[in-house]
Amino acid sequence: MPQALNQVLLNPSNLTGANLSSWLDVGGSEGLRKAIANPKQVIPTIKQSELRGMGGAGFPTWRKWEAVARQKSEDKWLICNGNEDEPGTFKDRLLLEKGPHQVVEGMLIAAVATGANHIVAYINPHETEAIAVMRQVIGLWRDWLGDNPDLALELKRFEVVESSGFYIGGEESAAANWVGGSDFPFPKSKPPYPFESGVNGLPTLINNIETYAHACHILRDGPEWYRGLGLGDAAGTKIYSLSGDIQQPGAYELPMGITLRELIDDFGGGMLAGKTFKAVFTGGPSNTLLNADDLDVRLDFDSLKAKNSGLGTGAMIVVSEETDIVRQVAGYVEFFASSSCGQCPVCKIGTRQAASLLRKIEQGRGHSSDLKELINLSEMLPGSGRCGLVTGAATVIRSSLEKFRPDYIRIINR
Ligand SMILES: Cc1cc2nc3c(=O)[nH]c(=O)nc-3n(C[C@H](O)[C@H](O)[C@H](O)COP(=O)(O)O)c2cc1C
Repeated sequence: MPQALNQVLLNPSNLTGANLSSWLDVGGSEGLRKAIANPKQVIPTIKQSELRGMGGAGFPTWRKWEAVARQKSEDKWLICNGNEDEPGTFKDRLLLEKGPHQVVEGMLIAAVATGANHIVAYINPHETEAIAVMRQVIGLWRDWLGDNPDLALELKRFEVVESSGFYIGGEESAAANWVGGSDFPFPKSKPPYPFESGVNGLPTLINNIETYAHACHILRDGPEWYRGLGLGDAAGTKIYSLSGDIQQPGAYELPMGITLRELIDDFGGGMLAGKTFKAVFTGGPSNTLLNADDLDVRLDFDSLKAKNSGLGTGAMIVVSEETDIVRQVAGYVEFFASSSCGQCPVCKIGTRQAASLLRKIEQGRGHSSDLKELINLSEMLPGSGRCGLVTGAATVIRSSLEKFRPDYIRIINR
């Protein structure tokens, strides 16, 4: 039986496009009013809601906000991360194009909570419609805030910044670097983290598009309401970018804690005719694979962690029995290799070496020594770069080796 849909962000009434009066008609601005009336209550409210970051790592949102709020600085930055360049992820673009007011109001609420006065929607330049909508929407909010002196916010900057369009530019320190005017979004070593030293060395809050949108509703309708949207111990909802060999690919906002099986069968409409489920790249290509034994796992941060997996961005790429897993992983690792910024030799060389081993094996030219080298690389690479790119590449390799080692061996012995 399909679970009841608890749509919030993708609820049609919140998908007002750029129209500000439609947003105000459905309760828009109430969250911001509450935040301005009681700024000190915002972070405790976000904490109670148990909101976690939707950009990949699932970091508790309140902790990041609190870390920025604590910094003593006249100027602070806030970046809304809409770089969204990982294969299989398409939820942020949808929110920006169709439900932009939730995102912008969430950004303003976060600015009130943290004291950020330079606010930037950082968007992939390939997303031309999202950029146009967000420019319009930010203009509307500026005027509206100007017409409502009781909601006056002292913002020095409130605008769209186009990102470089490179995948690496979505990494938080790379984003801060680019927004600060760098020629290329090179990630930085951490610490220091962006909350203490981000754009031009100033405290910087960086969250994903979806994270800000959830925050907007949490402020308006309360943390208990939000937590209650999830199933069991899981809080809130999540947008899944569901794709692959299924009947109804698309973006689905569902309660946290539904099972993988429900996502695929009840919402994705099941496998394409004549195809049998083999695996899902869970959380996107920089995460792990789950197989048929895992179909009843609950999709929430903790349940997936217990399976050594992760929710990631919520991208779920479903593949059928005919899929050559080694070939698919080779394609993803080639993407990561070509996305490496080249600063860390171990990432640059390690991802290329792993990609070429995978391709060699997939094309039937591999030997057991290649498999051994690939296994070694997958164990050595995690955590070796200054950002998470190399760890993501190693994670999908390790997971494919764990779940589908016989596929590798079969090709090698062919
Ligand atoms: C290579 C790489 C690319 C990333 N791309 C994105 C992205 O496009 N959007 C995003 O929100 N986070 C991306 N992240 C994660 C960010 O570094 C950061 O954790 C996130 O923006 C924080 O937001 P959240 O706490 O709301 O999840 C990327 C990370 C890495 C390592």
